Amino acid sequence: MHRFDVRTAQRTYPCVVERGILRRVSEFVPSSAGKIFLVTTEDVWTLHGAEIGGQLGDLRVLFFAGGEVNKRLAALEALAEQMVEYGADRTSALIAFGGGIVTDIAGFLASIFMRSIDVLQIPTTLLAQVDAAIGGKTGVNLVSGKNLIGTFYQPLAVLIDPDVIATLPDREYRAGLFEVLKCGVIRDRPLFDLLANLSDEVLSRKPDLVDDLIARAVRIKAEIVSADERESDLRRILNFGHTIGHAIEAETQYAQFLHGEAVAWGMLTATRLAELLGMLNSDNAGEVRRVICRYGPLPPAKHLSPDRLIERLAADKKTLQGKIHFVLPTAIGEVKIISGIDVGILRQAIAASLQELS
Ligand SMILES: NC(=O)c1ccc[n+]([C@@H]2O[C@H](COP(=O)([O-])OP(=O)(O)OC[C@H]3O[C@@H](n4cnc5c(N)ncnc54)[C@H](O)[C@@H]3O)[C@@H](O)[C@H]2O)c1
Ligand SMILES: [Zn+2]
Repeated sequence: MHRFDVRTAQRTYPCVVERGILRRVSEFVPSSAGKIFLVTTEDVWTLHGAEIGGQLGDLRVLFFAGGEVNKRLAALEALAEQMVEYGADRTSALIAFGGGIVTDIAGFLASIFMRSIDVLQIPTTLLAQVDAAIGGKTGVNLVSGKNLIGTFYQPLAVLIDPDVIATLPDREYRAGLFEVLKCGVIRDRPLFDLLANLSDEVLSRKPDLVDDLIARAVRIKAEIVSADERESDLRRILNFGHTIGHAIEAETQYAQFLHGEAVAWGMLTATRLAELLGMLNSDNAGEVRRVICRYGPLPPAKHLSPDRLIERLAADKKTLQGKIHFVLPTAIGEVKIISGIDVGILRQAIAASLQELS
């Protein structure tokens, strides 16, 4: 069992990584809580609901269709209406049980339902376990962009059961691994080395190793959020690979790349950019590229236009006051945030990296 505390102004709460913790969920629900609601998707509930079901009395399960197209205010409103229908009040508590889409929408719902009720996050994809469910960022999509409305709202706890990863489709698992790899590049050379040297065991989901990877990534996310809850500075290093990654997702209408896959392409671009700017030596850059390649295949990206991606960057939430910020590696385990990059060099880095692996 690993436990990492997230300390924020709102509250301090544990992220617990433990096989079988699904069977101990009731221990994390305050005894003062009224009716308990759980938001999930049919697939996750069918696969893993039985582990949670029995322990929570008359738990009311609310199903959400899942998918990025449904991560919208209309779905949140429908869930809220059902809660009222089933007698929810300000003492009710909500459990978010699913991938990052569920943890985002249910977290948002909890933050505004009757001006906020308690929420427990139980992420079931690797990506949600190491990233989305930790740190209190919640939200839904607008037609004009992803995650454009939301709140910072911290949960009571984040319960991470690595057992549920066994049922995750291979592509989703590998997409999550890219977020773990991100943690290695930005802050943890030993984690990077683990992914580089033990790829066969990682890909075959060797339990001890999966536990270790999750725990290391959770530790990093918990530390960074504790130091910078509102993403003013340090927390932005978690955006390594995300500047271009988000542009790729938007440019392809969120239909061709999973988030982690787009981030992998974004990490390739950022690595190339750092190399072109003389910030990262070519040995390190080559290592990063090799590891990304090892956890592929990635959907191809060479059909994407570098100019259109650059136009997209201007619309990104990470573009502050017209300046595009890039998180660039200076060594494996260290990054710097750079802005004001020459567009010509940026175009060159994007063009070169999109041809990579192909
Ligand atoms: N709030 C944050 O800080 C933050 C950070 C990163 C990502 N996100 C958000 O997370 C979302 C992506 O999350 P995701 O990658 O988890 O996708 P997802 O929630 O769509 O889950 C992927 C698929 O796996 C299924 N699934 C979930 N758990 C499973 C399991 N154990 N076994 C089998 N199938 C399972 C889901 O039903 C879904 O079909 C995006 O909307 C993104 O914006 C938020
Ligand atoms: Zn991400």
